[in-house]
Amino acid sequence: MKPFVVKDKFIPCGRISLIGDKSIAHRALIISALSRGKTIIKNFPVHDDSLATLSVLTALGVRITRGDEQVLVWGTQGLRKPRKPIFVNNSGTTLRLILGVLAGAGFKTKVIAGKYLSARPMARVNKPLRLMGAKITAKDRGGEEYPPLVISGGNLKGIVYRLPVASAQVKSAILLAGLSALGKTRVIECISTRDHTERMLKAFGANITVNKNSITLRPDRGLTSPGQIQIPGDISSAAFLAVLAIIIPGSKIVIERVSLNPSRCGIINILKRMGAKIKVVPFKGDELQSFEPMGNLTVISGKLKATVVNPSEIPSLIDEIPVLMVAACFAEGRTIIKGAGELRFKETDRINSMVVNLKSMQADIRLIKSGDLENIVIKGKGFLNGTKLKSFGDHRTAMSMVVAALAAKGSSRLDYISCISKSFPSFLTALNTLLRS
Ligand code: S3P
Repeated sequence: MKPFVVKDKFIPCGRISLIGDKSIAHRALIISALSRGKTIIKNFPVHDDSLATLSVLTALGVRITRGDEQVLVWGTQGLRKPRKPIFVNNSGTTLRLILGVLAGAGFKTKVIAGKYLSARPMARVNKPLRLMGAKITAKDRGGEEYPPLVISGGNLKGIVYRLPVASAQVKSAILLAGLSALGKTRVIECISTRDHTERMLKAFGANITVNKNSITLRPDRGLTSPGQIQIPGDISSAAFLAVLAIIIPGSKIVIERVSLNPSRCGIINILKRMGAKIKVVPFKGDELQSFEPMGNLTVISGKLKATVVNPSEIPSLIDEIPVLMVAACFAEGRTIIKGAGELRFKETDRINSMVVNLKSMQADIRLIKSGDLENIVIKGKGFLNGTKLKSFGDHRTAMSMVVAALAAKGSSRLDYISCISKSFPSFLTALNTLLRS
């Protein structure tokens, strides 16, 4: 594996459009596959995770054709038992959502995951699906369940389920299973999480209602394709570029057609609260072409002040916390990120990966336990020092550390960066675009 060296520094300037949002892409593929009619998915992102969902659906008998930045899904009213175990690579969203689908299918499937996903907990999704009637066996270790899994689906009944962890993946798996269950399914969230599944099911004609933290699905009508879906740019990918522009003096960038779904905008809200100059211009009406809000972001460099991120805000920026930690190193004062414990269950333990890296760059960073909550405390020094860094095989740690290295004094060397192909393979191209414009 070739290390990645950051030594030349630059001032990000110019306009950029990003590939489609990863979370929305998974749902667009799966829900189109379960619907009557053909669906064209525009601005479809091609990366390891979206391709994992695409290949799993193909193995289940769904016809999908790929064109230039779009895919065409031929909706099916029935999935086919796969000929061999299905492989979800390291895509947690693919695995958890597809378990919801397989819970309702009348056959047995073995699901195998890649190295990183095989170490991530699955009991949180297996438990509610078993309550609905699915039979699931998994690797058992220390009271937790891990892939590989074997699932036998069919004959489900709807449940009322209060989520013990704030997880959009688990919520979505239950709702997808609810599509083929007898009776209504209700999911009650402890803290609201991203609502892409609810929005998309509604757009495909499902009888779904949302009342504050409670989502009710009645499986009384089949899904019908709206014909086409426009996927907005990925706010999680935009976050790396936005933080870079904020912390490098003299920067000004415009990120076009990015997702502005309120359940994903935590990073924008918190950076603005820290004093970042971010102008949000939402699209309206015809410009929108999507049931997901989107718009342009203009980001200008400037000074940041520390803030406190509360546990209720965490799901709205769960994937952006690593790069927020980088921003906090450049802010004046003590930033506290409260209740960030879920970060330990991502592709790697992201609290550990970020603390190890930022400490090696001389950041002042501490972890404090407060009851059940795990809090990250960063005292901004206004600088980081370049050094040897590690991606831990995790795409978001890798990209956060490239941002940190570009803003740091001196050069840095990152051990392994190809893991960024999981969500943002054009990350380095995007940086080059902002360098040249
Ligand atoms: C996702 C939900 C989040 C997020 C993940 C994608 C989704 O996970 O971290 O990258 O698409 O539903 P949890 O909701 O399980 O925390």
